[in-house]
Amino acid sequence: MKVLLVGGGAREHALAWKLTHDDPSLEVLVAPGNPGIAQHGRCVAVKATDVAGITALARDERPDLTIVGPEAPLAAGLGDALREHRLPVFGPTAAAARIESSKAFAKALMLEARVPTARAERHVRPDEAKRAARAMGAPVVIKASGLAAGKGVVIARTLGEADRAIDHMLVGHSFGDAGNEILVEEFMEGEEVSLFVLTDGTRAVPMLPAQDHKRLLAGDAGPNTGGMGAYAPLSLATPGLVDDVMVRVIRPTLRALRDAGSPFSGVLYAGLMVAPDGTSPRVVEFNCRFGDPETQAVLPLLGEPLLPRLLGVALGAGLDETPLRWTRRHAVTTVVAAAGYPDTPRLGDPIVLPLSTDAGVHIFHAGTTRAGDGRLLTAGGRVFAVTAVADSLASAQQLSVRAAGAIEFAGSQYRADIAWRELERHAGAA
Ligand code: AMP
Ligand code: GLY
Repeated sequence: MKVLLVGGGAREHALAWKLTHDDPSLEVLVAPGNPGIAQHGRCVAVKATDVAGITALARDERPDLTIVGPEAPLAAGLGDALREHRLPVFGPTAAAARIESSKAFAKALMLEARVPTARAERHVRPDEAKRAARAMGAPVVIKASGLAAGKGVVIARTLGEADRAIDHMLVGHSFGDAGNEILVEEFMEGEEVSLFVLTDGTRAVPMLPAQDHKRLLAGDAGPNTGGMGAYAPLSLATPGLVDDVMVRVIRPTLRALRDAGSPFSGVLYAGLMVAPDGTSPRVVEFNCRFGDPETQAVLPLLGEPLLPRLLGVALGAGLDETPLRWTRRHAVTTVVAAAGYPDTPRLGDPIVLPLSTDAGVHIFHAGTTRAGDGRLLTAGGRVFAVTAVADSLASAQQLSVRAAGAIEFAGSQYRADIAWRELERHAGAA
């Protein structure tokens, strides 16, 4: 068996680790990969967004499966290009990936399928958008419709802030073409849950819900980032909630995508807002791929091999809908970010990794590179994702924080409180 993995972050490192942990004889090829992933497979210097380059690589190497990590190549049609050459791929077509690449498309689809979500209006004219914000009332959410790497969302506390965000996107073109169309959206209160669902377009099997931490600083303060950490499982997301989301969100969305002529095959990631009592889930957003950093927390808890289900999705032979088996342990992932992250991450700082790590700790590389002289250097905003798996959530957090702190490079930043909401829940329940 041979797998081509597309991407080069900690999510792809976690995928490469899981696949080779399940089957050490698996041949893994990664484009472009990173120095951490290189421990599990052969890295080839083709950019993830180079659709023609990746397709040529796959035609050459004939992998049994290509797994696409990030959204950009999917939105750019990598899934279509591989399918044209009859190469099995885990990841949707560009048409189905619009569920992530166009927030306006996703909203229209949800409205049609009666999937619970925030009220929203699409606008291209600033004056009309500002009127819509007034009608909605503050707080109100202003979103660029296109792909903006998680940064095209402004939670406006006042109408003044909303006006500035609208001008920024529609007049100042701060997100380029991604912000030529915006959504003015109702603000939803609650707690966020990430649910990944493996699906062949019709059949679907949910993974373990996780929670991301988007803010830079402890206590969920500071600017939004790509994600500073995650944990799983979370008691807020009961099996009943997952069933409810499958019935009211996932299945109607998959049906609407089939009806639109763009069936979705791959992993459908629902970002949900849930009431404090763990009910009334509403969709914040859909993504067409595994979440980062949630994947790094979820995969180490999977108590069965991953590849058979991914093949079930990709080969169209029918996905096995038997519930996935999970270990009864807890995982906490702490992201170690570069100095200046998220605005202006500094690159090229030398890294010293600890010589050994505690049992249950995985150091997944996100933004690292190997210099000509062999030194490991920082090469991205998020540099590592450090996952610890333990019998209790508190120990998983402790181990993860200790391992994150043992990674040395100038200006490194990480949060020591990943999973704090869940730990408060546990304390409240005790
Ligand atoms: P998105 O890119 O749509 O996931 O938005 C990024 C983040 O903004 C989400 O993870 C939420 O924390 C927040 N957010 C987006 N839309 C809303 C909303 N309607 N109400 C409250 N928070 C939101
Ligand atoms: N964890 C957020 C994302 O992957 O988009």
